[in-house]
Parts: sequence; C-alpha cells; structure tokens
Amino acid sequence: MNNDISEAIEGLKRYLGYLKTMGINEIPVEQQSVVSSQWSEKPTLQTLNLKPQIMNTDSIISPPSSLEEIQKEIGDCRRCKLWHTRKNIVFGSGNPKTELVFVGEGPGEDEDIQGLPFVGRAGQKLTEIIEKGMGFKRKDVYICNIVKCRPPGNREPEPDEVAACRPFLEKQIAAIKPKVIVTLGRPATATLLNSKKITISKIRGVWHEYSISTGIIKLMPTYHPAYLLRNYTPEVRRQVYEDVKKVREELKKI
Ligand code: URA
Repeated sequence: MNNDISEAIEGLKRYLGYLKTMGINEIPVEQQSVVSSQWSEKPTLQTLNLKPQIMNTDSIISPPSSLEEIQKEIGDCRRCKLWHTRKNIVFGSGNPKTELVFVGEGPGEDEDIQGLPFVGRAGQKLTEIIEKGMGFKRKDVYICNIVKCRPPGNREPEPDEVAACRPFLEKQIAAIKPKVIVTLGRPATATLLNSKKITISKIRGVWHEYSISTGIIKLMPTYHPAYLLRNYTPEVRRQVYEDVKKVREELKKI
C-alpha cells in the first residue's frame, strides 16, 4: 500500500516535471468551500463565484523554502511597477511557526517607511483585534500583505502587481503552514480565493478553504482594519468580533 502511494507520488512528480519542461508552471486545483450554516445546500464554485484555485507546480515538486530564502529570492524586487515609488519592501513579520496568518492588502505610508506590515493606524486596530478580541499576542501570529510594496496614494493593488507578488505570498503560506488564514478585506480575500467577484460583507464570517500542496488551510475573511477605522459601528464591531471568535475556537479545537 505504502509502495503504491510512493509510486503514485513519484509518477505525479515526473508528470509535473514534464509539464514544467513544456513551460506549464501552474495547474488548476478544484477548490471546495466549507459549508456554512447559512446555506441549506452545499455551495458550489458557481454559487460562490469562485474559480478553481491555481497551484504552482514548484510547490509540489520541491519542498517549501524558508521565509529567509523567500525574502532573499524577492531581493531588490523590480517585477512590477511598484518598485519605482516604494521606500521599502514590506515582506511580513511575526512568528514563522505560528498557526495563524493575517493577510492584508498592501503597505501604507507608515509601513513603507518602516518596512513592516500594519504599523500605522490600521495596524493599531489590527493589534487591538488580535490582542483584545482574540487574546493572542501580536508577536505570536504572522502578518503579511498580498503586495509587498506600497501602491501610490494607498490605491488598491492592480492585477499585474498582485500577480507579480502572488508567488511570494503563496510561498510564505507554504513555509509557515498555518492552521488558519484570516484575510483582511476584499482584495486579500479575492486574491487567496481566486475570485474577482466577492463582496466582503457577504463572504465574511464564513469558513473557506485555501489549498497548498501539503493540504488545506481554513480561511476566514473579515473586514479590513482600515474599514473599521471609518465605520466602527456597533454592528460592524460585533461582526468582526464574531469572525475572530470563530477563528479562536477553531484554533482551540485543533
Ligand atoms: N493596510 C494593509 O493592507 N496592510 C498594511 O500593512 C497596512 C495597511
């Protein structure tokens, strides 16, 4: 039985190696979303507006790089136009062995200056959520963004910028292998769920799944802390605390 599995894995590796030599570096992976109690029937990719995930074949063929190796690979990155205006690359920070990763949109002004994620006002709000809302220490989780360089004027990252940075985000997640990812806001959620059409107010609070070569990671979308700074109504506050409570309970379970 074990031999059969090893042979199957070796065969798959050979096939992926062959695809790679043919210039095919990515394969679509069927993604299942976790059933929510809000749905009476199991949702499908179509009802959720989600596309099959794309998995980079590199992550199957070779073991994950360490965070240090990934940062080295990024180097003095000029893979998209954001390098022209950035001061610092904001790679990510926190505990590389954590069970919980937060993914935001992109560095703002303070982050660009300091080279660290979520250190401005939105960062203070995120820290409050992590520490007061979840009872964790910020240093015990890992925080990063879908793009590592500040989009000018804090605009949303553009598709080519997200695409250029995406392999590094995927590698960071594969290196950490957290139990849970919390996506902050629409762009981060849409990027990791591979769907352009999501509405954060509809999708937040519902468990989803993110596939890496070694398995499935549970993904919880919630509002971006910058949105909370503008709209911290009792209802929004209740929703965010409800979302992170689900994450806390999930992490206790595992
Ligand atoms: N907003 C983000 O999405 N990321 C940061 O690092 C800071 C603000």
